Amino acid sequence: MMLSDWVGDVPEFFAEHWRSRPAIFRPAERFTVPITLSEVDAAIDSGLLRTPYLEMVRKSTPIDEADYTTSRSVNGVVADGYAEAAGVRRLLDEGVTLLLRNVEHWHAATRSLVERLEADLDRRVETFLFVTPPGKQGLPVHRDDADVLLLQINGSKHWRVYGGPPTANWGPGRAGNVGPALLDESVREGEVLYIPRGFAHEAVGEDTLSVHLSFTIQYSKSICTPPASPYTPPPRPSTPNPSPARAASSCSPSSPPPWPLPTPSSSAGPLQPRQKRGSGGSRVLFFARRLMLAT
Ligand SMILES: [Fe+2]
Repeated sequence: MMLSDWVGDVPEFFAEHWRSRPAIFRPAERFTVPITLSEVDAAIDSGLLRTPYLEMVRKSTPIDEADYTTSRSVNGVVADGYAEAAGVRRLLDEGVTLLLRNVEHWHAATRSLVERLEADLDRRVETFLFVTPPGKQGLPVHRDDADVLLLQINGSKHWRVYGGPPTANWGPGRAGNVGPALLDESVREGEVLYIPRGFAHEAVGEDTLSVHLSFTIQYSKSICTPPASPYTPPPRPSTPNPSPARAASSCSPSSPPPWPLPTPSSSAGPLQPRQKRGSGGSRVLFFARRLMLAT
């Protein structure tokens, strides 16, 4: 059961944390990384990666797509929004965060994990991968209309998770008046962070390139109009009217899902306490891959 690989005792996770309390888990066994940094590099270089699957974001500063995408003519049809590898890497070098959306659409191993998680939870699941340069913040404090399980694949990131929405009538996006942080800690490589649906949060990269993959567990099982993405920067001046895909969700909380969630039948036992990681030879390869992304 995949969820137990991430959070340990699954019934305890649902009883103690689901929708109520953020937490960092340190799995006893290192989780399988669904997508490696070299695969992210390959995607950037492939020539097929295209918006909106990628976006470059900086806290409170939208990045013009023209700075990291290019147009192509294919069979006489001009199509734009294709990732330009040099532009992506230049912006990363300048401290901009790279966001890759719906990794499960174009990466088979991630899709396989998503399908297993969807079957276990009976919910729709999407994935978002963030590459954040050291010391930088990609998004301001915001709330997601989904529960989030986040795998820290490389480096570390400092997270602050605040409380849930102050009223029942709330929506995803930027959050204000969030109050004191319920969780104010670093999430390190190999660790898992759980953020309950609607709980405000923000994160800053630490002293190395941070890469994490977020699994967002949607409130609704159906694929209706997607909610306004928490990973969408403010509208650009050149696009005054948001596209339908970025409009308010029709998957509103007015139709609550079955409750409780199906309880998985197996568990990996208690979690191990945090331990300092040794520096194995594989870290050299990770470091080399990290440099490929950052330069
Ligand atoms: Fe988020």
